[in-house]
Parts: sequence; structure tokens; C-alpha cells
Amino acid sequence: MVDTMKGDASNRFEVRSACRTIFDVRPGDLDLSGSDRAELHEYIWDTAETEYDARFLFAYLQKMRPHFSDRFWRYLENWRDDEEQHYLGFRHLYCIVFDYEPAEFDRKMSGRSPDFSDLAPFLEDEFTLSTVIAFDELVTTRVYKKEYALYDRLGAAGVSQFLRDVARDEAAHYRDALAIVRECHADRLHEVRAVLDKILEKESIKREYRSTFLLDHTDSDLYSGNLLEDCAHLICRQAMN
Ligand SMILES: [Fe+2]
Ligand SMILES: [Fe+2]
Repeated sequence: MVDTMKGDASNRFEVRSACRTIFDVRPGDLDLSGSDRAELHEYIWDTAETEYDARFLFAYLQKMRPHFSDRFWRYLENWRDDEEQHYLGFRHLYCIVFDYEPAEFDRKMSGRSPDFSDLAPFLEDEFTLSTVIAFDELVTTRVYKKEYALYDRLGAAGVSQFLRDVARDEAAHYRDALAIVRECHADRLHEVRAVLDKILEKESIKREYRSTFLLDHTDSDLYSGNLLEDCAHLICRQAMN
């Protein structure tokens, strides 16, 4: 049986209590009869990839640290730690569903290479960046909520709770990023709509996701309908109220 909690020196962070339930789930706790393994593979793997990619965004922004406020940087450090927890949790889930070795999982992830050139205009200043992060985190929150049923079919309370804990974290990331926009950049609130319009414009163009964590919304099935537009509208409303 795989044990994703041992012998792994590549992860810098301890598993904390917030998303802990997933690590108590063992292969025998899962009911795979009602699940499509190919579908599960795609969802868990792709999700773990994006959670993993948070480290690339953090490293990219670290070079710009002098341009950011202490409040924003504290937010980003906490955010980085949360996303790492999410990565570890989805890694554990994948390994017990597919009888996979955690070290091999990490090895595959370590081959990822980010390219931020396409997103550079959104990463230049704290106001714009906080707005983009708020948008991304709100979309992520909603997508995780849509996926509850998929993971609930595995029949393990620890898995179901993990998804809800992750969604709660993403919602907190959204709220805290929006609070930075509102409270630290009140003089630029009139620009929120324009930033979101630019994001939606970028989202509407067929493009590749390049391990940037942000704007990984390239799956047309998952991000169908008005999800992205609805999130942009909500942020505009909440930013101004
Ligand atoms: Fe996350
Ligand atoms: Fe997040």
C-alpha cells in the first residue's frame, strides 16, 4: 500500500490539520464501482498539476517582492502554503486510487516548466495582480463545488470532507484577495471592471495553459456556460459595495 506521508524529502511543508482528512483515507476505504477511472484520472491529475504550479507563481512573484506591500506578501505566503496542502492531498488521493508511488508522482510534476510571458501584464502591480488572483480563486471555488458529486461517489467521508475543506480555502483566498483590492487600492476600484474585461478577453481566446497556476481555464467542458462571466460580475459588485 502506498504511504504518501513517508520518505518524501521533496516537499517543504508539513501536512497541517486543515485538509488532514484525506491522509487518513486508505485504498480499502474507497468504492470505485460507481466511478469512471479515466474521468477520475483526468480530474485528479489536472487538479494536482494546477495546485503544484502555485510554487511557480510564488517564485515568479518573489523576484518582485519590493513592489508589494507586507499585507499582500503575508497573503501570498499563506496562499502558497495552502496550495501546497492541496497538492499533497490530491497527490495522496491519486496514489491510493491508482496504486501509484508518491515519489513517482512528484518526479512527473517536477518536469513541469512555467511560462508567464503571456500573463505578464496581469502581474505587474499589486492591484491588478490581486484582482486576477481574486477572479481565479472565485472560479476555482465554484469548480470545486461542482465536483463534489464526482468525489462523493468514492464513498469515503475523508475524501468528501477534503474537497469541502479545499473549497473553503479557495473561498478564503478569494475573500482575502478582494479585501486587499478594496482596502489597499480603494483609489483604483474604478479600474476593476477593465481588468476583469481583459481577463475575460484572454479567457475567450483558445490558448494553452502554461503551468502558471492562474487562468488554467482551458477545459471548455469544465468552464462552460457563463461561469467566468458570472464570477467577473460578482467581483465587480462586491468590489464596489
Ligand atoms: Fe488550491
Ligand atoms: Fe487557492
